[in-house]
Amino acid sequence: MFDRTIKIAPSILSADFANFGAECRAIEAQGADWVHVDVMDGHFVPNLTFGPATCAAIRKHIKGVMDVHLMISPVDAYIEAYAKAGADVITAHLESGPHIHRTLQAIRAAGAKAGLALNPGTGLDQLPYLLDMVDLICVMTVNPGFGGQKFIHSQVEKVKALRAMIGDRPIHIEIDGGVTTETAPLVAAAGADVLVAGSAVFSGGSVDTPQVYGRNIAAIRAAATAAMG
Ligand code: DX5
Ligand code: ZN
Repeated sequence: MFDRTIKIAPSILSADFANFGAECRAIEAQGADWVHVDVMDGHFVPNLTFGPATCAAIRKHIKGVMDVHLMISPVDAYIEAYAKAGADVITAHLESGPHIHRTLQAIRAAGAKAGLALNPGTGLDQLPYLLDMVDLICVMTVNPGFGGQKFIHSQVEKVKALRAMIGDRPIHIEIDGGVTTETAPLVAAAGADVLVAGSAVFSGGSVDTPQVYGRNIAAIRAAATAAMG
């Protein structure tokens, strides 16, 4: 069911890479709504992470939504594999190739919800032609590639404009990058409902001290929800 309540999506890019199964179970037990998986190819972004086989293995440890963010180019050839790996949402970048319309069609055809990610330097001018093909729009509030970067404040205005454009369509606005208890209220007030957070969820905790994850998730959710009015 679609709703605009705040959803916290921890990015396992900040988890213990030797222990993904336990990390996914821990964040869900501590209140994570979605699990965000950052797929990087060393070409579209300067970092390398998870292939489809890793996603399939992680999937077994996630009860809720597996939110797969593809920072890869070309992207079309891999959509089917990530859908088969169990992704519920597959997000591709508008900047990842010349045929984003086809890419979004392919994601829905593979049986996943379609997400469209926009880099900080990308405007909204193409959105009117894509809005009816997407279930989620991810506004990048850092340049993609790494966790732990600083939130880019110019993106808050973009979120506001996007929220107005979406109207009553059932499209989530996701924020990815630099989300903290300080920045979450800004984007929640602007109209975002899915907040990805890597370092702000995992810092200070571990699978042996999962209550730290719980406190971090609850603090981000409380700050964001209070700002929604
Ligand atoms: C950046 C990734 C983000 C990142 C968020 O390329 O898409 O999901 O891991 O990490 P934080 O919350 O640490 O900025
Ligand atoms: Zn991401």
